[in-house]
Amino acid sequence: MHRGAKTGVMVVTVVGSQLGDEGKGGIVDRWSDAADIVVRYQGGDNAGHTVVHGDEEYTLSLVPSGAVRGKVGVLGNGCVVNPETLFSELDALAERGLDPEIRVARRAHVVFPYHRELDGIEERAKADREFEVGTTGKGIGPTYEDKAGRRGIRVGDLLDPDVLRDRLEYVVPQKRALAESVFDVETGDAFDIDRLYEEYRRYGERLREAEMTVDAGEFLAAERDAGKRILFEGAQGTMIDIDHGNYPYVTSSNPTAGGAPVGSGLGPGVVGNGEIVGVVKAYLTRVGTGPLPTELGGVAGQTPGYDGSEADPGTDAGTDTDAGADTDADTDADEEELATRIREAGGEYGTVTGRPRRVGWLDLPMLRHAARASSLTGLAINHVDTLAGLDSVKVCERYDLAGESVGTIPATTERWAACEPRYEEFDGWPDADWDAAIGAGYGALPAEARAYLEYVSDEVGVPIYAVGVGPDRAQTIVLEDPFDRDR
Ligand code: IMP
Repeated sequence: MHRGAKTGVMVVTVVGSQLGDEGKGGIVDRWSDAADIVVRYQGGDNAGHTVVHGDEEYTLSLVPSGAVRGKVGVLGNGCVVNPETLFSELDALAERGLDPEIRVARRAHVVFPYHRELDGIEERAKADREFEVGTTGKGIGPTYEDKAGRRGIRVGDLLDPDVLRDRLEYVVPQKRALAESVFDVETGDAFDIDRLYEEYRRYGERLREAEMTVDAGEFLAAERDAGKRILFEGAQGTMIDIDHGNYPYVTSSNPTAGGAPVGSGLGPGVVGNGEIVGVVKAYLTRVGTGPLPTELGGVAGQTPGYDGSEADPGTDAGTDTDAGADTDADTDADEEELATRIREAGGEYGTVTGRPRRVGWLDLPMLRHAARASSLTGLAINHVDTLAGLDSVKVCERYDLAGESVGTIPATTERWAACEPRYEEFDGWPDADWDAAIGAGYGALPAEARAYLEYVSDEVGVPIYAVGVGPDRAQTIVLEDPFDRDR
């Protein structure tokens, strides 16, 4: 269902402004009501979102969330597609009576079992040097590597068995040699050309029979010309963008809004003429390794240099506003407790991997970086309810770095890791009847929460379009619907 006369904004892009897991799914889900088509433009089954529809809950990683509600879902050319995941999600939806319309770009690259194996193999090799990324293990990096190395196999190639065979015969021996000779790992079925050929040829047949493949750019342009509204659904987040994130602790694609034109075949003018909404979590979480200057406590196996056996001396740098009163050990214990409280209240465990997420205070240098890199026109700030009940809430306003005050993210990971946060401290807000606030609107939020939100918006220079006060898509206070804005 789309609204009668098609005027105003026709294209909305929703991106993650932090490190992924900002709650994009709920926002996309909410605004996809006004859209006809939901497009993923990067990433693959490393993304995960839970969609609640009626009494049913759906966990999806490749199928765009809008598809559950009858929207057309497109996986653009910038995506990497694991057909096994795609079809198992579609089969699971079919068992529950849903038959979503999904289109897959013929230019999108295919994730093969050897990519997943190599993802794990390289992570283990890196772990020996404490250099691992903490990937989702879905083969995302190795697939994009093959794309850039011009040896990848695309969705269009699955439709032509001879091409598929040729490509596999070229690439698989290289992958096997890499695993066996460079990493000294025995290979099995995942590197067996005949097996791969048979399985992936069948996926190609199924894609063809279901008429699922398209030239994404042409398809979307025609739909747009026909007056259809398009919602681009970014996966992951700005700080794990391969160009704008904290390399090498990144995913291998561009979650920032620039990825939308490249990864869909609609031009930058189309995306830029629309609205671009950055989804923000009212605090910060991170899955995997890499720096997190505002981190509270730590998670063993993910926080660099932290093994959980004792408080990490690095994590309280710059956070110790009351250092005169507390010992470092007390502060560390308090921060651990705070992190645990936020993690539990916010359900901060990975959707794909189940890993506990690292937790920190909101970081404005990160949001300034995200706003610039994606030309954000609006913010959707989630998890405001999760912070309720704290005595005070902190926001990192700027960093101190080697004697300088810095307002955005340094380009190198090492310099980012050396940043010490300078905090603004706000009064906490009480737990509230959030559902009543949803009905009554933004003004019904606790005054302390509004002060916090308005400070963030002013500092980042981007207006607030929505505030999330619960996990359900209905638990969102909408100040501006991007599709309703005049352009
Ligand atoms: P990969 O995308 O599996 O290669 O993982 C690379 C980095 O991105 C790791 O730190 C992952 O934890 C992170 N990552 C990938 N997908 C997501 C996501 O959907 N949410 C949050 N982090 C993610």
